Amino acid sequence: LKIVRSIADFRYPAPGSVGLVPTMGAFHEGHLSLMRHARQFHDQVVVSLFVNPTQFGENEDFAKYPRDLTRDAALAAEEGVDIILAPTLSEIYPRKLGSTIHVPEVTSRWEGEIRPGHFDGVATIVAKLFNIVRPEIAYFGQKDLQQTIVVRRMVSDLNMPLAIEVLPTARESDGLAMSSRNAYLSTEERSIAPGIYRELTRCRNFLQTTDATGTEVEDVLRRSRSSLEALGFRVDYFEWIDAESMEPVRQKNGATALIAAAGLGRTRLIDNVLV
Ligand code: PAF
Repeated sequence: LKIVRSIADFRYPAPGSVGLVPTMGAFHEGHLSLMRHARQFHDQVVVSLFVNPTQFGENEDFAKYPRDLTRDAALAAEEGVDIILAPTLSEIYPRKLGSTIHVPEVTSRWEGEIRPGHFDGVATIVAKLFNIVRPEIAYFGQKDLQQTIVVRRMVSDLNMPLAIEVLPTARESDGLAMSSRNAYLSTEERSIAPGIYRELTRCRNFLQTTDATGTEVEDVLRRSRSSLEALGFRVDYFEWIDAESMEPVRQKNGATALIAAAGLGRTRLIDNVLV
């Protein structure tokens, strides 16, 4: 495993097919499963590790986001990763004001509304990583569903020459979606946290086994929000959406998903399930 801190080494693509797993480090099984999957299909597996400041809001956790390159490199090596690209801040952002990418429409709601500018930060860093690494395929986890939709839209809008593959969310045995931010949860909060996935699966089962539409759907979504609030969550949203446009839906037509985001103590959790 080679750790590369400078972009210069990526100016010319390595021979053969390159798979990229973009990350911010603090690896868990979700990241490792992406690396393991990529390993099967590429000559070179590159993992980028960069805690990207431009996707964090002012009051968010950029400063305290977990960073441990030695631990992460050991885990990536076990998965057979060839290169970790861990550039410095000034390598990635040499100018105070650089060009940015804004993806319209699919960023207007949910995380985009609650975290203004977040997806401009994500789209821009992901585009930069694609240009530096030039992968054939880039791999993302379904946990950040809106992020995957934004990245797919950007790739399509800008004719970027790569494919995006989204792999299932890795979960703890009690259903909690794996996330680097789970480390912030207290013991009590950790025991409550799987409630989000429980409500998502309860709703999904209801939607898949009934022909509910309109107000019936509203009712079941409202009940889930109330149950989560009763457990101590501050619910930002709990919605049924079209999995391409991100617009709310009230009956199944094409690919849809249930998405949820809620605060618990000082931690904010997001999750989703396909319906
Ligand atoms: O999902 C993440 O870890 C980040 O948003 C990403 C895609 C690496 C961009 O910084």
